[in-house]
Amino acid sequence: MDFFHYENNELFCEEVLVSDIAEQVGTPFYLYSHRTIVEHYRKLDKALESIEHLICYSMKSNSNLAIARSLANEGSGADIVSGGELYRALKAGFPAEKIVFAGVGKTESEIEYALKMGILMFNVESMPEADLINYVAGKIGKKAKIALRVNPDVDAHTHKHITTGKKENKFGLAIDEALGYFTESASKENIEVIGVQAHIGSQIVSTMPYVEAINRLTTLINDLEKIGIKIQTLNIGGGLGIIYNEENPSTAQQFAEAILPLVGPTGRKLIIEPGRFIVGNAGILVTRTTYIKKSGSKTFIIVDAGMNDLIRPALYDSYHSIKPLKMTGAEDITADIVGPICESADCFAKERKIESVNAGDLLAIFSAGAYGFVMSSNYNSRPKVAEAMVIGDKYYTVRERETYDDLIKGESIPEILIHDK
Ligand code: LLP
Repeated sequence: MDFFHYENNELFCEEVLVSDIAEQVGTPFYLYSHRTIVEHYRKLDKALESIEHLICYSMKSNSNLAIARSLANEGSGADIVSGGELYRALKAGFPAEKIVFAGVGKTESEIEYALKMGILMFNVESMPEADLINYVAGKIGKKAKIALRVNPDVDAHTHKHITTGKKENKFGLAIDEALGYFTESASKENIEVIGVQAHIGSQIVSTMPYVEAINRLTTLINDLEKIGIKIQTLNIGGGLGIIYNEENPSTAQQFAEAILPLVGPTGRKLIIEPGRFIVGNAGILVTRTTYIKKSGSKTFIIVDAGMNDLIRPALYDSYHSIKPLKMTGAEDITADIVGPICESADCFAKERKIESVNAGDLLAIFSAGAYGFVMSSNYNSRPKVAEAMVIGDKYYTVRERETYDDLIKGESIPEILIHDK
């Protein structure tokens, strides 16, 4: 479900014609639909309403301030993985007491920043990390609330780069050793253990891996209670999948129906950390065709966006639907849709059937709201693109396009290298 649709063969985002925005903002740019973001959040929130819960939007999927604020306005919390994301989350208006901090490599200064700001809890991934949190909390006279991230050894059946809950992954603490880790953490003076957390992967389309993970976590929680460690929150991470092509992911309702009977009776607060589910299909990347190149038997549609702007196809071989902003009814052709970067991987789609387009035509790369802009880079000295958001019948630029000056910001040439007369 999203609020991008064709009307008279032209693409609209909510009530705004996307090509109008392209004329004003220039290309390439990311475009987000506010209504889609909010609807996705509300669907999940509503599906979980029968139990106490907190949705912590995963900032890493898209940390633009306008998106974050849209969710904070809905009552969402935030899942962060760095000091930078904490800074953004607070700037966007998430209350500190709704922020959970994940990640295997939190540094001392990040921990101190988070403690001072009063975040809800750390999701701790190792004993040395627990030691460091204990030390920093003691230093500044605070008690740190934590959940331990457990690795439940569940196969989420997703891409190998985004599976995180298997034994061999670097994330979390092995579930069969967890009792010891919890006991050790609970004995630390400046730490209060309040929760159990797990995140098993991303783009998970079935509810089964969640059910399996929750069952394992519940057994652990019961064992913990027996030794006097009271668990208040059960955080099952993010990972809910979306439709990119022909996937059939479980809906918010189906997800809730599968997990609520397991979590509800325990009386514990459920925390989830969705990213992609909320923003994935709420964003597109709009790009203009620069050339149509024919070479041998191949046709290449060369566009002005590159892998530096959206790296998912190059990195994960991921599928993104691509369509012209204006459908002309021209015959389909089969082409590779590629960017201008000097890498063979700079390809958004291989041998893709697409309505024939001409140089100058605008294209939309769909399902680009999650892990799109946030993973973009300046490779090939390309300024980062603009981001815009439609709210009803208006659009707003929510991040300016970078300039060439931005590209060299902070760089300098040592005096000794300057030989100008
Ligand atoms: N919580 C934790 C601890 C995570 O590591 C992640 C994502 C999430 C929540 C949010 O997951 P989501 O609901 O968005 O699936 N760059 C990859 C995805 C990497 C996901 C990393 N962790 C991609 O473009 O597919």
